[in-house]
Amino acid sequence: MHKKLYIPGPVEIAPDVYEAMCAPMIGHRMPEYAELHRRVTQHLKCLLNTKDPVFLSTSSAFGVMEGAVRNLVQKRCANFANGAFSAKWHDVTRRCGIEADLFAAEWGEPVTADMVDQALATGRYDAMTLVHNETSTGVMSPLSEIAAVMRRYPDVTFIVDTVSSMSAVPLDPQELGTDVCLAGVQKAFGLPPGLAVFAVARRALEKAKNTPNRGYYFDFEEFEKNDAKDNTPSTPCISLIYALAHQLEKMFAEGLENRYARHRQMADAVRGWVQQQGFGLFAAEGARSLTLTCARNDERTDLEALKRLAAERGYAIDNGYGKIKNQTFRIAHMADFTMADMEELFGLLEELLPRVRK
Ligand SMILES: Cc1ncc(COP(=O)(O)O)c(C=O)c1O
Repeated sequence: MHKKLYIPGPVEIAPDVYEAMCAPMIGHRMPEYAELHRRVTQHLKCLLNTKDPVFLSTSSAFGVMEGAVRNLVQKRCANFANGAFSAKWHDVTRRCGIEADLFAAEWGEPVTADMVDQALATGRYDAMTLVHNETSTGVMSPLSEIAAVMRRYPDVTFIVDTVSSMSAVPLDPQELGTDVCLAGVQKAFGLPPGLAVFAVARRALEKAKNTPNRGYYFDFEEFEKNDAKDNTPSTPCISLIYALAHQLEKMFAEGLENRYARHRQMADAVRGWVQQQGFGLFAAEGARSLTLTCARNDERTDLEALKRLAAERGYAIDNGYGKIKNQTFRIAHMADFTMADMEELFGLLEELLPRVRK
């Protein structure tokens, strides 16, 4: 039995997306692929309101996250963290043999502009990494405020993971001044996993050319050279790119403002419902994610049992991530979900919760 996915990625996939993936195969050096590539990257540039290139990487997001630090850290990297994915990025940076320091906020709290300012004022760093929307904790850090601070440090490369926010909230990499703005498509884009997209500023592409040991698969210069020919360095996941083309068309048909409003409306509804059921919200007020809600367990709900019962009914729900597993649970409200999907989940959980509460 398929379980409807209410977990924060991979998300539930609409049937028309699977259909789009079934288009007959083409070769990636054929003109048909160049046409597809151009169409998709132009739509991504519209989505992100940018003239900078947007590249397609056949990898999950961590491929590009690793690639970004390998291409863009020449001296020392400041990794800002407030949850599992941002902390792992620090680990990944170090594993690449790059000098790096971790600046960590409490889980549930955002990374703040002050934190960034204090760290960068030391003058030790030529690059920083930030996760906009920490999926492990449901915290959305104040990207515009951090971007305002980053303007004071033009020599520090600004690398941002928008894995679980891109396409659900307005993002303008040029306005923000990000050097890399990246996402995996298995979250708000509403696609199966296996593809990452990333916008890279021209100055970052120039910097990358002078960085040693970039490897091959994630070498930004390779992406740039191939993208200029509407292509990718190595064989891309063409079926997923067909599906991305389809999802982008759907996004523009819905209207980006409507799409952003739909995500805000679902976030409001889920936050309200969670509190109505007696759970707290894990993320600090003012820093709550618009694409998922992380609820604090009330200590009388057996989340493992809830997950099991939901699975029997054909639903996959989350019971927390990493060190806050079972102390929290997350509800995804992104991609193609609508208020009707939220109501469906509320109904299910209202029926099951009395059975798993002490
Ligand atoms: C914010 C964030 N960054 C990075 C990742 C890692 O992405 P992937 O597993 O696609 O490499 C995730 C995955 O959930 C995420 O939520």
